[in-house]
Amino acid sequence: MGAAVTGRGLTAEGCIGVFDSDVGGLTVLDECLARLPAEDFVYYGDTAHFPYGDKNVEYLRERSMRAATWLVEQGAKTVVVACNTATAAALAHLQTHLDVPVIGVMTAEAHAAAYTTRNRRVGLLATVATVQSGAYERMILAHDAGVEVTSVACPRLAPAIQRGEPYDETIVEMVREYTAPLREARVDTAILGCTHYPMVSRLLRRNLPDVTLITSGEELARELRESLRRKGLLRSAGREGTYRFACSGDPGAFRALGSRYLQMPLGDVARVPLDDPVPAGRA
Ligand code: DGL
Repeated sequence: MGAAVTGRGLTAEGCIGVFDSDVGGLTVLDECLARLPAEDFVYYGDTAHFPYGDKNVEYLRERSMRAATWLVEQGAKTVVVACNTATAAALAHLQTHLDVPVIGVMTAEAHAAAYTTRNRRVGLLATVATVQSGAYERMILAHDAGVEVTSVACPRLAPAIQRGEPYDETIVEMVREYTAPLREARVDTAILGCTHYPMVSRLLRRNLPDVTLITSGEELARELRESLRRKGLLRSAGREGTYRFACSGDPGAFRALGSRYLQMPLGDVARVPLDDPVPAGRA
């Protein structure tokens, strides 16, 4: 394996790089913007390669490495993997080959779920790749080996959210079907193990009444703030941070869907395909 991609001497002035397969990571960015208003953010959506949820580990590692490397080139002092699928497949790989801190989703939600459940029955809704990785289950059991985890792969849910039709009957029926095993298992806590899913949180709440829903964004934003603080990389308060966006596919489509979900103007979205051959020594 080649040389590490350099973080070029990390300082608090660097930005925070965030990536996902598409707009799902905006649910993570949203929490980070609220919790870290003085920071600058650069978000990359690998929209030309959505969905990640049905891809294999090698493919996910390669796309994640390209996105994270580009974010480091933009001056990222920390890279946030705002995608559960990419975290499960590629977090360790990125951490090994980049010399900036890389934080993924999953760990914090797994901890939160293990600490939250009272009846020790936890549900997981996630993509096929994330469920197949078994990563959530391992992390939850590492905290409490007595917890019963019911995992449901939801292959059609992120693509339906991505089509931008979150409120039609098809998606209502889909959510009903995917949440049924969690109702049957009588879980009292459920992890929304895909960063797209909070975009249909009202439907999920309706189908899982009295269940505590754990989302990636909230837990990650807390962890990111603490990590920056401990490493001395936190920007001092009193400035308003910036944010900008890039994607590998159609910038217009990303802007339209993204501003609707983020409820903020996205500004110019750059098209950055990241399709060049991987330079020798990078991955
Ligand atoms: N948002 C991604 C995740 O958190 C998955 C969506 C996809 O399949 O690309 O897993």
